Amino acid sequence: MVPGGVGLSDQEFALFQKLIYREAGIHLPDSKKPLVLRRLGGRVRELNLKSFIAYYRMLKGEGGEKERVCMLDRITTNETHFFREPRQFAYLEEELVPEWKRAADAKERPRQVRVWSAACSTGEEPYSLAMVLLHHLPPGAGWQIDILATDISTRALATAQAAVWPIEKIREIPEGYLKEFMLRGKRSQLGRIKAGRLLRSVVRFQRLNLHDESYSVGGPFDLILCRNVLIYFDPKSKVAALQRLLQHLSPDGYLFVGHAESLSNLSQQVRLVAPTIYRPDMARRRDAGPLPGEDAPTARLRSQRRRLPTRGDAPIQSEHARLRKAPDR
Ligand SMILES: C[S@@+](CC[C@H](N)C(=O)[O-])C[C@H]1O[C@@H](n2cnc3c(N)ncnc32)[C@H](O)[C@@H]1O
Repeated sequence: MVPGGVGLSDQEFALFQKLIYREAGIHLPDSKKPLVLRRLGGRVRELNLKSFIAYYRMLKGEGGEKERVCMLDRITTNETHFFREPRQFAYLEEELVPEWKRAADAKERPRQVRVWSAACSTGEEPYSLAMVLLHHLPPGAGWQIDILATDISTRALATAQAAVWPIEKIREIPEGYLKEFMLRGKRSQLGRIKAGRLLRSVVRFQRLNLHDESYSVGGPFDLILCRNVLIYFDPKSKVAALQRLLQHLSPDGYLFVGHAESLSNLSQQVRLVAPTIYRPDMARRRDAGPLPGEDAPTARLRSQRRRLPTRGDAPIQSEHARLRKAPDR
């Protein structure tokens, strides 16, 4: 029972479990009943409904789609930080950026980097990426950075798009990047920070449900981050979501996942190059069809091409040892 008197029976909870799984792939174990009561109870009262079953009927009824978006806004957990999992940002700076620079200097790739932050929450993740990439690959040197940031939560996306956070967040941002890219609020904005214009210009937003059977995001991407979201999925929806995601990753691209996530179920398609960092397994993708945006002759060429080894292919053992030096935060 929440204040205001709306209770959630086991049967009602079971209906919400199924609905939330069907809509977003999120698996809520029975232990999450208090969370559903807390997060949705307020909405039931706001709508002047008498019970959860009345809310469920509304969600399922005609025109329920808009309310389902609102319900998912409330049910999702949006905790995030700037430069979360700093080892991955160190890897980006020390391995990927030099690899992209070398390849561009050798005219093997354009001076363009495309990244997808696939559950961007309130924006800290894509703006952290933007800081690193703009610092090392600046537009003045001919680089074009394009970061797509998506999330299922419209509420989180609105914060991300506004690019304004409480001042306490500055603790998460390295001093140099803070000075180079962030603005401190004055007068009515005192106590807040905002991403500067350059940062904002390279990040674009889109609502996207990773559980949807198909979606359009463009790509292929050089780097995809899908971190701390698939922990809420059950194994079946997690594998399906990752397989869809991988269709948008460049054959030479990288996938970063959260520290608690393993892709052992996908060992046919990806290989681990460092803790929580994966690449498509080209040997096994020889017969793969065209990637999104790729024509058949290019797909054929890709499948015939032998990929040159890069630093990202260093033996996992030595990568582990090197990355252990970087503390997590
Ligand atoms: C804990 S946050 C992680 C944010 C960020 N990736 C990080 O690691 O800091 C999880 C995010 O996943 C989003 N999410 C949950 N289910 C989703 C789905 N089916 N499709 C897309 N995003 C989803 C939530 O809205 C939330 O913003």
